[in-house]
Amino acid sequence: MSLSLKQLPLACVAFHETIDSTNAEALRMLKKGQSSPFLVLAQEQLAGKGRRGRRWESPLGAGLYYSLALELSEDVRNIAALSLVTALSVCDALDRIGVRDLGLKWPNDVLGNERKLSGILLESAMFKRQRFVVIGVGVNLKLPETVKLSLGHTITDIISLLGVEIEAHELAAHITLELLASIERFKKSTFSEFAADWNKRDAYIGQAVQVELNGLICQGKAQGVNERGELMLLTRKGLETISVGEIMPSVRPVGLN
Ligand code: BTN
Repeated sequence: MSLSLKQLPLACVAFHETIDSTNAEALRMLKKGQSSPFLVLAQEQLAGKGRRGRRWESPLGAGLYYSLALELSEDVRNIAALSLVTALSVCDALDRIGVRDLGLKWPNDVLGNERKLSGILLESAMFKRQRFVVIGVGVNLKLPETVKLSLGHTITDIISLLGVEIEAHELAAHITLELLASIERFKKSTFSEFAADWNKRDAYIGQAVQVELNGLICQGKAQGVNERGELMLLTRKGLETISVGEIMPSVRPVGLN
């Protein structure tokens, strides 16, 4: 189905050829009083932000660099779970345009063919006593070989998965449509409504994994996510729930099989 950004209920869409970071720009626009929801898109980011202070490689025309800014009501407390809902929405949008073999890696990486295809960074802020969230999504569309090589081929892009290029604005429209609908559902309920779907897409369920937690490595067998979006990990000490950190693929067996 072809979908255009014009069909979506957005206050505005800001297009940039080059920007530092679409998330940073969305936060600046909110600060200046821009009404939400709105979208910031760029063809290139000079200082793309990744999770945990990392940099997101954002060469010109090689990816979708997308930020959706929304007002959040006081009752939405679990921003971490919202980032898992976002990952699920991005998966559903990619699926809708024909990308298959997608998976999720806790908390919010979207994998294609077991390699990273999309990353998500949520940033929240208060302006004039209102609470906002900026949902940043990066999707690799057509990465230069040098970037893939520098990351040890742990990443993939749409062109490798689909064999054809896709239009960034159309993908942005599909992601926005899925996201707006999921966020409405999330506002009215909790993550528990999404947990089963998330676990169906979980690429690591039942597998030995390592989780990095404040510099410490925790090992165990991934058991999917619970109703709060926390990772359930079966360790030698028993079942633990982990709310911060991220799964790293296990480099050696953890002896729990
Ligand atoms: C990750 O580390 O996996 C998260 C990456 C998020 C990247 C996107 S690209 C659009 C938006 N603007 C940014 O500066 N970062 C996010």
